[in-house]
Amino acid sequence: MKNAFGIFTGTAHPALAKGVCDSLGISLGRTEITRFPDGEIDLKVLEDVRGGDVYVVQPTCPPVNENLMELLILIDCLRRASAERITAVIPYYGYARQDRKAEARVPISAKLVANLVTAAGAHRALSVDLHAPQIQGFFDIPMDHLYAAPVLMEYFKQLKLPDLTVVSPDVGGIKMARAYAKRLGADLAICDKRRSGPTEIEMMHVIGEVGGRNVVLVDDMISTGTSISEAARACRKNGAKDIYICATHAVLSGKAVEKLQKAPLKEIVVTDTIPLDGKEFHNLRVLSIAKLLGEAIRRIHHSESISSLFQ
Ligand code: R5P
Repeated sequence: MKNAFGIFTGTAHPALAKGVCDSLGISLGRTEITRFPDGEIDLKVLEDVRGGDVYVVQPTCPPVNENLMELLILIDCLRRASAERITAVIPYYGYARQDRKAEARVPISAKLVANLVTAAGAHRALSVDLHAPQIQGFFDIPMDHLYAAPVLMEYFKQLKLPDLTVVSPDVGGIKMARAYAKRLGADLAICDKRRSGPTEIEMMHVIGEVGGRNVVLVDDMISTGTSISEAARACRKNGAKDIYICATHAVLSGKAVEKLQKAPLKEIVVTDTIPLDGKEFHNLRVLSIAKLLGEAIRRIHHSESISSLFQ
């Protein structure tokens, strides 16, 4: 593998890793991943990676700790097999919402994950639509932050929705929503969301005009589905016409699918940073970011610009 590059994956999302390989016209690096009788991860890389530029594609989605540990062990394995450079490709970065001390005596787990990935032996990292952009700075190794916007935006552009307002379901998402509104030539509105617990929220008001307008609600992730379905209800209450969801990461935990199906939604558009594993439903559309990841990996391998991918 000298001067060549290889792509490996754990068990989190082999289909995405395979899609990335297909986009690059290479085969997925062979591994054997099982569990010891006590549940520990038993892993072996079945390729010679000495001197190689290798990429480990593994979202740290649920089961978060299993997938994270597999990622770390795979990196360790490649390092000990003398790979020249290892890039952790983490399309969905678990623990991203624990990015600051929101109250006393809580951890900053997003930083701990960055430390773990680096300590395992990664030389670079890459992720998509980090919940908090500052997580990039949690890494003391080069970290490329990609955006799924080109993939999602292309879909919404071809829908040619008239009288369009892009809505952020909370104040934290304004920057992302503004970027979508600008590119789609749409108006911008914001929901005033208050969180009263990890799964409870209060949707206070919609700031901006959604009455008689088609709406695209933009968010980085759908976890329990509470934020987005409540935001959709608030928009409908304020007279919105068709309501679409545009979100990068479909975590879909707990009763998310049930909540989304009950919400007044025309279509929910997400990417495949996380496998859906049977959670598909009739108005859920999944767009693949495999090509985008493949192109980013190609550029990293050839030391080309990543930022120009988004201009
Ligand atoms: C919030 O800050 C995020 O951008 C998402 O809106 C939130 O994490 C989604 O969580 P849930 O689906 O559980 O409301």
